[in-house]
Amino acid sequence: MFDLRSSEDQEQIRQMVKEFVEKEVAPGASARDDAEDIAAVHELLKKMGKLGLMGLPYPQEYGGAGSDQVTYVLAGMEINKVDASLGCAYSVHISLASWPIFHYGNEEQRRKYSTKMFNGEFLGAFGLTEPCAGSDSGASQCTAVLDGDHYVLNGTKCFCTNGEIADVIVMFAMTDKSKGTKGISAFIVEKGTPGLNFIKRERKMGIRSTVQNVIEMQNLRVPKENLLGKEGDGFKIAMTTLDGGRIGIAAQGVGIAIGAYEYARQYAKERIQFGKSIATQQVIAFKLADMFTKIEAAKMLALQAAWKKDQHMPFGTDAAMAKLFATDTAMEVTTEAVQVLGGTGFTREHPVERMMRDAKITQIYEGTNEIQKLVISGTILR
Ligand code: CAA
Repeated sequence: MFDLRSSEDQEQIRQMVKEFVEKEVAPGASARDDAEDIAAVHELLKKMGKLGLMGLPYPQEYGGAGSDQVTYVLAGMEINKVDASLGCAYSVHISLASWPIFHYGNEEQRRKYSTKMFNGEFLGAFGLTEPCAGSDSGASQCTAVLDGDHYVLNGTKCFCTNGEIADVIVMFAMTDKSKGTKGISAFIVEKGTPGLNFIKRERKMGIRSTVQNVIEMQNLRVPKENLLGKEGDGFKIAMTTLDGGRIGIAAQGVGIAIGAYEYARQYAKERIQFGKSIATQQVIAFKLADMFTKIEAAKMLALQAAWKKDQHMPFGTDAAMAKLFATDTAMEVTTEAVQVLGGTGFTREHPVERMMRDAKITQIYEGTNEIQKLVISGTILR
């Protein structure tokens, strides 16, 4: 079967998210960015919990909305059209924190954590990156040593989105350094655990109303039952989690690009220069045509990766291609949107400069676009 239409359920949820975003998210997006207002984004996430969005692609049996990855992409596009900070926090919760706990967790862990994550009571974070283990995430220096019925974690994590506002963090550390990537394990760490220290909040170019922390783990004691999967499963858990996360970031790239394109198109129709609207002048009309074409292509790649995941087909390479293309598109389209608005686009009077700043990180996080090319070339040259 080949059908590019969304189902009635998918469309209904997309419409609900669009209405929520227009009413609750759009009005304060620029002010939240200006003020780096993390608390306000946290409040929005709680409201999204009440709408069933925090467990959108997860089974109803565990408190999720019982929807799918395609719907998650549609929702992500609507959110990111308006506020990529909220989009980032949401995507980390859904893809990077909720997924590994639900997918690799045992029944007890699912009942204890997944249900609360899906209903919005618990917000999730993902602790993989370290100062010396960025793209090379297998080079982890963090350690976890079994001591009685606890693992004791030590080391530094960085760029942990949602860190200080999260209720649970999926944390990675070496249980056996001699085994390389096969010596990494994953743990569920609860907020407030002694030794979980948030020592820095990053100040950033974009997505300024999300929080990214440096975390220092000092003899952080994690109960043995919070090991996710088996000892040594951590790298596989991280990589498969990121495969799915990249679908969320692809949706984010498409969303940011649509937001900037729609704003620039409207502006171009209204802006008069040389006696007519600039949209009727070919140099601008062609820019808009290029922007729209790339957005449509990026959207298709994102939906294809999501659809394959829904069909339980291999989707890692599709997710990498979607992330690569959609986020490059976001950067290109937002840059062009600022150009269409000219000097005024460079000011904070219009949202396109924020969108351009927000777009940059999408080319970097959840695997730089250079890493995506490594993943894609690895597949096509295998
Ligand atoms: N699925 C399943 N298994 C995988 C896998 C995948 N996607 N990728 C690798 N593996 C397995 C391999 O098969 C291999 O297993 P075997 O030894 O049994 O054969 C093992 O893992 C090691 O694989 P590699 O030798 O390919 O691993 P590598 O060390 O060379 O790394 C990499 C590969 C693709 C570069 C990987 O390190 C990577 O994706 N790096 C980017 C990390 C990243 O995306 N970080 C973002 C952090 S999250 C974030 O951005 C923060 C935020 O808050 C938003």
